[in-house]
Amino acid sequence: MTLRDGMARELLEEAPPYIVCSGLFKIYKVADLEVVALRGLELNVRPGEIIAIVGASGSGKSTLLNILAGYDTPSAGTVRVGEYDLLNMTNREVVDYRRREVGFIWQETSRNLFPYLTALENVELPMVLTGLPPKARRQRSEELLSLVGLSQRMHHTQAELSGGEQQRVSIAVALANKPPLLLADEPTGELDDETSAAVLDLLNRVNRDLATTIVVVTHDPAIASSVGRAIAIRDGKTSTETLRRVSFEKRIGGQAEDVEEFLLVDSSGSVQIPRNILDKLAIGRRVRVAETDGKVTLESGGE
Ligand SMILES: Nc1ncnc2c1ncn2[C@@H]1O[C@H](COP(=O)(O)OP(=O)(O)OP(=O)(O)O)[C@@H](O)[C@H]1O
Ligand SMILES: [Mg+2]
Repeated sequence: MTLRDGMARELLEEAPPYIVCSGLFKIYKVADLEVVALRGLELNVRPGEIIAIVGASGSGKSTLLNILAGYDTPSAGTVRVGEYDLLNMTNREVVDYRRREVGFIWQETSRNLFPYLTALENVELPMVLTGLPPKARRQRSEELLSLVGLSQRMHHTQAELSGGEQQRVSIAVALANKPPLLLADEPTGELDDETSAAVLDLLNRVNRDLATTIVVVTHDPAIASSVGRAIAIRDGKTSTETLRRVSFEKRIGGQAEDVEEFLLVDSSGSVQIPRNILDKLAIGRRVRVAETDGKVTLESGGE
């Protein structure tokens, strides 16, 4: 029985959240201009969950992921991952957090690996930083490369690997120090459909077999439909959530079933009404709200 199945899955859903973002703001200042990349984002992720973050270009996906990775600090709000309060960490704690708690996969395949090192050496490197003895490092590297199906490519450097193989090595590198959290920013952005599907299957397998919590940012609807929960970001806030009650096996095959889509309500009661509904009902600046028989209806309130 795995974490994904039956009772174990229900226990997982009851578990306190592992990632908590609440009222998260990120404001970038460029010359005299302020860019609000995140505006009051709220997100909870349970331990052992795999979720996709989807959204248009510029909606704040990478900003969120970089904050969760400890590469960037938010301007305001709460962000907690496990025991770490990411808003109040010393530089030392940030370094510790990045080394032990998170593995990160960049969209640009070239950014994940050192080109002059072999696959094996790339996977060993993060363990050198945490001080694991050489023999144990070598053994774990070999295990990880076998996990990602690259036992036959251990001594290849980046230039001697295909794009998909490079991303699989990147996943092995990200898992080197057994992080409880894996963050991947568009990990299949540069790959063709078939290779993307293989990388995705691998992430689902890692999630199931190692119980690693995984957050994947993607433009790719195929990724969004092969994880249990996909959350859409719009204008720096989480707006909708799509849930799929799918077994691991079906998910691997990409067959979605039992799909439910929700609007998310933030802690102040705000929801983002989808643009197509706003347009269709000519909803402008205000709506009339009514509650009847346990249902809420919204109606255009004119100009
Ligand atoms: N370092 C920065 N300085 C200034 N503005 C930034 C910076 N990084 C991001 N932004 C701005 O913040 C907003 C969100 O950017 P972000 O990179 O998070 O978007 P994204 O959803 O990842 O987009 P994409 O899908 O294109 O990768 C954008 O308007 C972007 O221009
Ligand atoms: Mg991005």
